[in-house]
Amino acid sequence: MKIIEVRNLSRHFGTLKAVDGISFHVNEGEIFGLLGPNGAGKTTTIKMLTTILRPTSGEAKVAGFDIKGNERDVRSNIGIVFQDPSLDDELTGRENLEFHAILYRIRGEQMEKKVRDVLKLVELDDKADVLVKNYSGGMKRRLEIARGLIHEPKVLFLDEPTIGLDPQTRRHMWDYIKKLNQEKKTTIILTTHYIEEADYLCDRVAFIDHGKLVALDTPDMLKKKLGGDIISLQLSGQSEKFEKHMKKTKWVKTISKHDGFIDLTVEEGEKRIPGIIMLGEKYKASISSVSLHKPSLEDVFIFYTGKTIREEEGSWKDTMRAVRNARNR
Ligand SMILES: Nc1ncnc2c1ncn2[C@@H]1O[C@H](COP(=O)(O)OP(=O)(O)O)[C@@H](O)[C@H]1O
Ligand SMILES: [Mg+2]
Repeated sequence: MKIIEVRNLSRHFGTLKAVDGISFHVNEGEIFGLLGPNGAGKTTTIKMLTTILRPTSGEAKVAGFDIKGNERDVRSNIGIVFQDPSLDDELTGRENLEFHAILYRIRGEQMEKKVRDVLKLVELDDKADVLVKNYSGGMKRRLEIARGLIHEPKVLFLDEPTIGLDPQTRRHMWDYIKKLNQEKKTTIILTTHYIEEADYLCDRVAFIDHGKLVALDTPDMLKKKLGGDIISLQLSGQSEKFEKHMKKTKWVKTISKHDGFIDLTVEEGEKRIPGIIMLGEKYKASISSVSLHKPSLEDVFIFYTGKTIREEEGSWKDTMRAVRNARNR
């Protein structure tokens, strides 16, 4: 079932087309990612879907409700965690959650139970009564996620959930996000400019660049569409006959040799490895190691946008765009 449907959604700021006619849907239960460099239009998209910002044109439905006209119903079915922290530092973790529960008219025993549940989910139960100002960055982010889950939303929006966290904490966050998707069956739509994050977490990923959606599929399919795998073999025996055979093999697209290794480009490499090893034995090539490299999501991003995701980051072009936008505001 489609839990989010987006059709031709646009948002302009003056002459800037921050979001420029994007269409996609999100299936119930999915972790769906919007991946793109800074300034691509990810936050603007999330803000429209969460009814914080009105679209310039286009339509979208979230949990069956129109974002233009049914704002209240949309909001009661979603949880949001934005990039900028919005916790009260002078309250404890538990108090922050209780405050949020009250906003959603959850009180008394029901409130206590829900607060307990979400604290447990993000493993903050033992820190519940500590003031938030004494939390680490990772704990704060987890508490924000817990807060977004209090009213048991069908859809949780996470805007750059791991920005500013150290790599180790980021890894932990990924596990929490996966866990709540699996345990609570919450549909998650997240934005990120970390390729590995989208690759690891998302069932499907949409690439966004300059307000436009340039590609959308599962990380695996995106990579597959780009081309094959590279199988790298280290040989310690006789390689001539083996090589000859490989050169004549139809499913081997290219062969290259470099310092003791033979690299084969093939489609669906993981399925070819057993056959290759058997041939190696047959020709006494003595394969001493095998490795398989998939084209990375970064390669895919470069293919669709002609640049690495980081190239755009902090470039003078971005700075100029920001200056221009500020003027148009
Ligand atoms: N309120 C606003 N007024 C003017 N320009 C804005 C506003 N919000 C965002 N923008 C511009 O829209 C573009 C997309 O921004 P944003 O959606 O925040 O990108 P992302 O989240 O992908 O980094 C950027 O160029 C940004 O400067
Ligand atoms: Mg953003």
